[in-house]
Amino acid sequence: EETVTALYEGSHKTVTFPSGIGAIAAATITFLQHGDHVLFSDSVYGPTRKRVGKNLLERAGVEITYYDPLIGGDIADLIQPNTKMIYMESPGSHTFEVQDVPAITAVARDRGILTVIDNTWSSAYFCNPFALGVDIVLEAGTKYLCGHSDAMLGTVTVSTEEQFQALKGMQNTLGSRSGPDEAFLALRGIRTLSVRMERHQINALKVAEWLDARPEVERVLYPALPSDPGHELWKRDHTGACGLFGVMLDKKFSKPAMCAMVDGLDLFGIGASWGGFESLAIPIAPAGSRTATPWPHENQMVRLHIGLEDPDDLIEDLEDGFGRLNAA
Ligand SMILES: Cc1ncc(COP(=O)(O)O)c(C=O)c1O
Repeated sequence: EETVTALYEGSHKTVTFPSGIGAIAAATITFLQHGDHVLFSDSVYGPTRKRVGKNLLERAGVEITYYDPLIGGDIADLIQPNTKMIYMESPGSHTFEVQDVPAITAVARDRGILTVIDNTWSSAYFCNPFALGVDIVLEAGTKYLCGHSDAMLGTVTVSTEEQFQALKGMQNTLGSRSGPDEAFLALRGIRTLSVRMERHQINALKVAEWLDARPEVERVLYPALPSDPGHELWKRDHTGACGLFGVMLDKKFSKPAMCAMVDGLDLFGIGASWGGFESLAIPIAPAGSRTATPWPHENQMVRLHIGLEDPDDLIEDLEDGFGRLNAA
């Protein structure tokens, strides 16, 4: 916990949980209660909405409003007298919108509203949300902190002793502590976090640029690309980009064609839990999990996690995949 705290300059203390979703559940339910209102980004990780939002917070009588991740300072218009928390994730899961975090935290600060961010995509290495005015930063340590897809962990880093005591109290209530083996694996992973993140970035950028130039691809959703709508904000607030991005295929490709492409990949595993050393691919369909800002695109989409393999080998694997996509 001290090691994670040290990764985040300006933070106070960290509490670890058995998973990322456990960290999200604890970080929200600790600071919200019956009658409170919370603003959640429309681009949050699916289970943040479906499990923590629906199963936990709404059942506890907390009112949730989902907001457009591009809202910036206009979030002021959504604030109610009982708004107690703004919960961000930037870039967003599946759709990778970059939020104007300082604009949002400035509004929250003025009104005494707590701000929380899921910083799993950047990890502490590429972004320090405390420097952007965020109060509480969480990560699915399962991803880059551990880095080898062999342990699950969640971290919640807070900025005051009062927040720490409240969170620790909730952890004791839930009996939700991380185990010693996971702590060991995270500590070992953190020793190589910097070199892994740098290589994820180099590899991902090479693959993303190659994909962006392909006729089969309509858009690559990766803020590190200058063509990405979130590029300027990303450059301002982050020092780098991880290995995770979305690929929107041309409209003409069907779902079975996309599946033929993904199923036959050799170096990419098919899987959800990214952040390890190996590359992953998974079909995604953002339209089903948005309420504030409908996702208007019908194109098939694939999310790629670019691991630490030779990027030329990954490109070759994807090129064969495009062969299957075109042939289907
Ligand atoms: C952005 C984000 N936050 C949180 C989580 C949850 O982490 P865990 O799998 O450790 O519960 C994930 C998992 O995919 C994620 O992508």
